[in-house]
Amino acid sequence: MHIHPLERKWIYLVLVVIGLFLAAIFYTALVRNIHPPSHLETIDSASLHLSKEFAEDKLGVWTEPDGTIKVTVVAARYGFYPREIQLPAGTPVTFRIASADVLHGIHIPMTNMGTMVVPGYVSEITTTFPKPGEYPMLCNEYCGLGHDHMWSKVTVVA
Ligand code: CUA
Repeated sequence: MHIHPLERKWIYLVLVVIGLFLAAIFYTALVRNIHPPSHLETIDSASLHLSKEFAEDKLGVWTEPDGTIKVTVVAARYGFYPREIQLPAGTPVTFRIASADVLHGIHIPMTNMGTMVVPGYVSEITTTFPKPGEYPMLCNEYCGLGHDHMWSKVTVVA
């Protein structure tokens, strides 16, 4: 079978591009160990209130013994709990988020803070707030009629 030389060139080019995509996927997953932040660990969404980390009295901002700041958040129709948190500027903060019901998203504009919150999984993401101010923490996955009103307030202080 005869293949036109130009066509052959394009076939090779396409194969190279596919190879580059696959290499990028395998490199980030296997060598750099980078995975989506929403599929780190599993958790039972129906019994968050009984869990060590996501029980009602455990939610909010924690300073770990080594000085790192951790925030535990539950996303549930239609809000993030706690509704208001206060954090320091210029310090890395690790959020751990679990959904009590359906798929939600969590997003803080002007930061890298954005991940899906998949029921049954814990999402974890670390961010630093460069400037003091008030930031909205929004849901960016449609989760029902109250989706538009699903947000909490983050106050960043110097
Ligand atoms: Cu929660 Cu949209």
